[in-house]
Amino acid sequence: MTAEANHDGDSGGGGGARRFLITGALGAIGVWTMRSLLDRDHDVVALDLGGARHRLALALDDDQQTRVTHVQGDITDLAGLERVLDAHAITDVIHLAALQVPFVREDPVLGAQVNVVGTANVLEAVRRRAGGMGPLVYASSVAVYGPAGTLAAADAPGTLYGVYKRANEGAAARYFADYGVSSIGLRPHTVFGPGRDQGVTSAPTIAMVAAAARRPFHIPFGGRVQLQHTADAGEAFARTALLDYEGASVHDLDGPVVAVDDLAAMIERAAPGARVTVGDAVLPLVESVDGTSFVELLGGSVMGPAEARVAESVRRFEDLVRRGLVQPPAVATEAAAD
Ligand SMILES: NC(=O)c1ccc[n+]([C@@H]2O[C@H](COP(=O)([O-])OP(=O)(O)OC[C@H]3O[C@@H](n4cnc5c(N)ncnc54)[C@H](O)[C@@H]3O)[C@@H](O)[C@H]2O)c1
Repeated sequence: MTAEANHDGDSGGGGGARRFLITGALGAIGVWTMRSLLDRDHDVVALDLGGARHRLALALDDDQQTRVTHVQGDITDLAGLERVLDAHAITDVIHLAALQVPFVREDPVLGAQVNVVGTANVLEAVRRRAGGMGPLVYASSVAVYGPAGTLAAADAPGTLYGVYKRANEGAAARYFADYGVSSIGLRPHTVFGPGRDQGVTSAPTIAMVAAAARRPFHIPFGGRVQLQHTADAGEAFARTALLDYEGASVHDLDGPVVAVDDLAAMIERAAPGARVTVGDAVLPLVESVDGTSFVELLGGSVMGPAEARVAESVRRFEDLVRRGLVQPPAVATEAAAD
């Protein structure tokens, strides 16, 4: 792994502020998690494979971008991960790096290496520094639930990705029971808004980008989704990582539950003249979950209302498309949601 100090190069702790390592920091949730931490003046080290930096400017202002220390690294490399924790005197880890549903489907073994072994590496690296670190906060997913909406063995997840996420939750529970490593897993459903551009539930966001450019778009799946705006999801992860916590728990994120037909109508209202159609494919996910335990954990919800967040996102995409920072889909396509 290679460390890259974007800021003044001081990689030691100090100042009393906490120093967060975020894996998968360049992803949709990662950039907004960094935003929430930087807004609170914490230090942030961004670990990612390093290829795609296009989401940074969507969440961070110029000053904030200079305050991020970037590390190009791979969570499948335990020794490298440990070197980063030590070199940067990391006090807290937020683990978001993963391959999403379509990528795991394409390459199940790589999916297991990143999503299962990678998460084991993160747990292990934290265990080896036990005592000195805050609880590990990691991204699970509602994909852990089977079609009946339970975690029972007989109610198996609808995707291999969900099977791997279930393994992560089990591993985190054992790491607390066996080694005392505290962790909090969060399960998002459908994250949308600036930065969301890949994964099975990214189609509503692509529809917002298309609508911002007044191009038609077809969301291939219907049913209902539970929405979490990217900025709100980042805030949820950051706020969770700031908790003083001992134990191992997993929480469904709360958020408004919306029929995809209604979501399409919201997008059209936000972009008069735009056309968003909805197909009848069925997502391999439960339609909604109960986020009460997460709201209680934080002492209140950080999720914004659907219509307002959709309208904000469309306005933001209008600006980003105009400035060439986000590209609208060339034609209405169903492939984006695969
Ligand atoms: N976006 C959603 O709606 C959603 C829903 C449920 C769960 N999640 C989970 O939340 C987390 C973040 O999701 P996101 O939407 O930001 O994903 P994303 O695909 O936008 O970002 C993932 C990031 O992880 C990085 N990454 C992949 N493999 C890596 C590796 N081996 N080492 C280091 N970095 C690696 C990628 O380069 C990317 O920047 C993931 O764990 C995902 O499974 C997301």
